[in-house]
Amino acid sequence: MRGKADHYTIRAKKEGYPARSVYKLKELDEKLHLLPRSGTILDIGAAPGSWSLYARRKGKGRLRIIAVDLQQILIAPDPETTLIIQGDIFSGEVRSRISGHAPFNLIMSDAAPATTGNRTVDCGRSSSLVEGILDLAPELLVPGGSLVMKLFQGGQERRLLNRMQQEFGSARMIKPKACRNESFETFLVGLNYSGKS
Ligand SMILES: C[S@@+](CC[C@H](N)C(=O)[O-])C[C@H]1O[C@@H](n2cnc3c(N)ncnc32)[C@H](O)[C@@H]1O
Repeated sequence: MRGKADHYTIRAKKEGYPARSVYKLKELDEKLHLLPRSGTILDIGAAPGSWSLYARRKGKGRLRIIAVDLQQILIAPDPETTLIIQGDIFSGEVRSRISGHAPFNLIMSDAAPATTGNRTVDCGRSSSLVEGILDLAPELLVPGGSLVMKLFQGGQERRLLNRMQQEFGSARMIKPKACRNESFETFLVGLNYSGKS
């Protein structure tokens, strides 16, 4: 079915979102109430920008969003609500630019490695991204805050979930309906960050 516009792609276009992936976040948010009513959100792997746009629309001016991606983020800038940063979340330069906005109430990451087609390599890179983001949490996530991250399922999911269960009040793995059938991605969600491991 890839290449053929599916229901979510058509709906994203109609609703003005640059990517169908917005419906994964929407479903997670509706189930788990991820987005805070106010405060700050870090969106990692934000391009082209549909997750940030969802947060901006839902926040109605009460949320400040810092959107980071290696690629260009395509949503219109809005100095009141959205700061756009192009770069690697793990670089010192990006970290120093976001540090003034930390700690965040929610960190959301739809970040994914550029895929090679080799599932072992791709899943290994995806789990390294997840682990790297978990390592950033003590510096970037407010106690009581939430974290949602995409993960390619390749055998590390149980270990990463166990780690999150130590560091959050609750943690779970959930695959939204909007994920393509053939996709091996899932999402890890941690609520009520304690930072204890
Ligand atoms: C599936 S896309 C995100 C789609 C986005 N959530 C949306 O709805 O518009 C994954 C993104 O992760 C980004 N990415 C991967 N590694 C990254 C890193 N280390 N730092 C920042 N962005 C990264 C990629 O450049 C890519 O644009």
